[in-house]
Amino acid sequence: MVEPLKLGLAGLGTVGSAVVRMLHRSRAELETRAGRPIELAAYASKDPPKDNTIDLSSLRKLADPIVLARDPGIDIFIELMGGEGDPAKSAIEAAFGAGKGVVTANKALIAKHGVRLAKFAEEKHAPFSFEAAVAGGIPIVKTLREGLGGARISRVYGILNGTCNYILTRMEKEGRSFADCLKEAQKLGYAEADPSFDIGGFDTAHKIAILTSLAFGTEIDADAIHIEGIEQVSLADLEAADELGYRVKLLGVAQRTETGIEQRVHPTMVPKGSVIAEIDGVLNAVAVDSDMMGLTLVGPGAGGDATSSAVVADIVDLAAGRKVFPFGRPVAKLGKLSRAPMQRHEGGYYIRLAALDRPGTAATIARRMADENISLESIMQRRKKSRPHGGDDPKSAAAPASVVLITYATSEDAVRRALAAIEKEGVLAERPQVIRIEKS
Ligand code: NDP
Ligand code: HSE
Repeated sequence: MVEPLKLGLAGLGTVGSAVVRMLHRSRAELETRAGRPIELAAYASKDPPKDNTIDLSSLRKLADPIVLARDPGIDIFIELMGGEGDPAKSAIEAAFGAGKGVVTANKALIAKHGVRLAKFAEEKHAPFSFEAAVAGGIPIVKTLREGLGGARISRVYGILNGTCNYILTRMEKEGRSFADCLKEAQKLGYAEADPSFDIGGFDTAHKIAILTSLAFGTEIDADAIHIEGIEQVSLADLEAADELGYRVKLLGVAQRTETGIEQRVHPTMVPKGSVIAEIDGVLNAVAVDSDMMGLTLVGPGAGGDATSSAVVADIVDLAAGRKVFPFGRPVAKLGKLSRAPMQRHEGGYYIRLAALDRPGTAATIARRMADENISLESIMQRRKKSRPHGGDDPKSAAAPASVVLITYATSEDAVRRALAAIEKEGVLAERPQVIRIEKS
C-alpha cells in the first residue's frame, strides 16, 4: 500500500473552504490520478470557518500556522491565508526549513518574495507550487513554465483580475455604478480582503510580475511595473469606447521592446471583436505571443471553485512526484530584468478632454498635438449633458464639450508633453483622461 500524501492547510476562507470541499468530493479520482491517496490531516484557522458546510471533524486543528507548517504529521503545507508578510511568509519558510513542500495561491507574497522562497525551496529539495496565484483556474503558470518551454516569448498580456473585469462589464452592460458592482464582486468572493488591491491594479501587477519571470526567465521585478487602476474609468469612457469600436479592460502587459522589458498595468482600449474584448464578468484571459505561435487561454479568474481547481492540481502534481523548478529554471539561471522606461512606451491613445466652449479651443488642441508630431486617427465631439456644478442647459456657454481623440501610434512622452501644454493654455475644465490602446 502506497503511503498517503498528508496535507496541512492554513486559511479556511473562500479558497481554503473550496479546497477542503474538492479534496473530499474528488477523493477517489484524485488518488487515481496521483497514484496515491491524498489526505487532509490538519488545518490552522483563527476562527471557526465562515463556511459551515465543510466537515473538519476528523482533522487536527492547530492555532498557529507556523506550527502547522513544521508539523511532523504533514508532507505538504497549503498556504491560503493571503498577505505578502507574516504569518504566510514565515509559515512557508518554516515548511521549507522542515523539508516540506508548499502550495500557495498568494500572488502578493510570490511577487515580493517568490524568487527568494524558490531558492530556499531548491536548497531544501522541497517542491513549491503556485498555479492558483495567477488567473484563478487558468493553468497559465504551467503553460509558460512547461508547455511553452521551447518558445521565445515576445509578449504576455491579458485580463488578470476577475473583480475589475466584473465591475467594468456590469458598468458597461447595465450602466450601474462602480461602487455597486464592487460590492457585488466582494459578495461573490472575487475580491481581495482589501479590494483596493483589485481596483488599484496592484493585484494585476503581482500577477504580471510572476508571468514576466516565467515568460522571460528573469527575476521578479515588481517595482518596475507601471500601475494604474480602474477607479478613474467613467461611464462616459465606456460609452465613447463603444461608439469608437473598442471596449475597456484592465490589462496586465509584459512585452519585450527595444529598450528592455516593459511591464504595465492600466485600463486599456481593445478593439471589439478581438478575443480579449469579448471576455466578460469574472472571466480572465491570458494571451502569449512567441516566435513560433500565439495562444490565448480563457477561464474563470477568481472565486472559490476556480481557484481550488488550480490549488488541487498542484497538490496532485506533488503527490505524483512531478517536480519542476518553480520559475521554470534554477533560480541561479534567472537573469536580471532590463527595465524599459514607461516614457518610451509606444502605441495608440484614447484621450478625453472636457474642453471649454470658446473660440479657438479646437485649434489650440490640434496645434499642441501637432507640435508633438501626434497624428489623430479620429476626433469625436459631444456637448456634455449637464454642467459640472448643476444646471443642465446644453447650450450654456459654461458647459464644456467632451472631445475624444484617438491617436495613431506615438510615444507616452509625446502625449504627456502635448497634454501638459494644452492644460497650460487654460482651455480644459478637468484633467484629461488618457487610456492606452493595445493591439491584440
Ligand atoms: P479569505 O480572506 O476569504 O480567506 C483567508 C483566510 O485565512 C480567512 O479565513 C482568515 O481568517 C484566515 N487567516 C488569516 N490569518 C490567519 C492566521 N494567522 N491563522 C489562520 N488563518 C488565518 O481569502 P481568500 O480565500 O479569498 O484568498 C486566500 C488566498 O488566495 C489569498 O492569497 C488570495 O490572494 C488568493 N487567491 C484568492 C482568489 C479568490 O478568488 N478569492 C483567487 C486566487 C488567489 P479570518 O477571516 O478570521 O481573518
Ligand atoms: N481578487 C482576485 C481577482 C482573485 O479578482 O482576480 C483572483 O486572483
